[in-house]
Amino acid sequence: MSDANTSAAGFPPAFTFEPNAAPAAPDARASLIEDPGFGRVFTDHMATIRYSEARGWHDARIVARGPLSFDPATAVLHYAQEIFEGLKAYRLDDGGIALFRPEQNARRFRDSARRMAMAELPEELFLQSCRELVLRERDWIPGGEGGALYLRPFMVASEVFLGVKPASEYLYAVLASSVGAYWKGGARAVSLWVSHDYTRAGAGGTGAAKCGGNYAASLVAQAEAVRRGCDQVVFLDAVERRWIEELGGMNIFFVMADGSLVTPALTGTILPGITRASIIQLARDEGLTVREEAYSIDQWRSDAESGALAESFACGTAAVVTPIGKVAGPDYGFRIGDGGTGPVTARILARLSAIQRGRAPDPHGWLTRIA
Ligand SMILES: Cc1ncc(COP(=O)(O)O)c(C=O)c1O
Repeated sequence: MSDANTSAAGFPPAFTFEPNAAPAAPDARASLIEDPGFGRVFTDHMATIRYSEARGWHDARIVARGPLSFDPATAVLHYAQEIFEGLKAYRLDDGGIALFRPEQNARRFRDSARRMAMAELPEELFLQSCRELVLRERDWIPGGEGGALYLRPFMVASEVFLGVKPASEYLYAVLASSVGAYWKGGARAVSLWVSHDYTRAGAGGTGAAKCGGNYAASLVAQAEAVRRGCDQVVFLDAVERRWIEELGGMNIFFVMADGSLVTPALTGTILPGITRASIIQLARDEGLTVREEAYSIDQWRSDAESGALAESFACGTAAVVTPIGKVAGPDYGFRIGDGGTGPVTARILARLSAIQRGRAPDPHGWLTRIA
């Protein structure tokens, strides 16, 4: 049942290293990471671990990044048992490298796996895979404001079987991508399209899991947002089509004129964002009131128009904090504040970014230093 590279509970397998035979030359790498954008520049290696019911987690490797080959009857290609995570490794001013709250991603990955009836990767193995890959690929972390190594852990059902059931085999992998600031030229205020036709998740569904299917389901609404001249879509709840949930890939906050913050509660239909949780904590540290409660599209509109609402912003790992300037629906439109970046939004972005980059005290121990 076990071999030299098989996990027993509590004993993560060592990662075998098989170097890329043709890594990017240093000057090619330097030019790739000079202005990498988001999600297009990949490093030389990836981490992979396999799971089977018979062997548990085994075969942990760091190998050359390259195509994965799948039998056409592989379960994920048919029934979409797939989950992923997103987190960043930052280069600190003192030359060290840190991950931001990676244990939260490890835990959410397990939660997502459980919801999708997939094997649960031990959290220590998740953390080890991220650490080992980043240490191998540290030269791919771009310098400059907003530069980071974005990690994309994911897992797919790799069993070759067309029966509809939880697969008995999985492939877990981690990719690393050099990224720059998400919004070129600094965070500009985005416009949102409120989708009244499409919803993202319903009660009892998979909205709180980070599974690929949620994103597939959101794309038609995102495409509509772009067609309507907006940057991003924001979803309403699936029952009353009234309560604001989240964007396709970001949580949302409302800053009231009295300085308090409101954000939709975690009721199972939105992703429990790590940036969201961090912002709630930072705001409360500052003495601000944060309410996790339902907030309706009608309330948002009337509060924006009356001035009871001062600012709104979206948040997530990729873009950190993104101000919202305008909101539009099928027969309405309204502006948030003066349509630009409000002071509370700017302050939260600055505080969070400073902690992530080791430039400010880290009172909650959110940075995990790996070098
Ligand atoms: C649907 C959705 N909501 C919210 C978030 C923000 O989550 P986090 O702050 O953990 O990146 C993400 C991004 O991961 C997302 O995909």
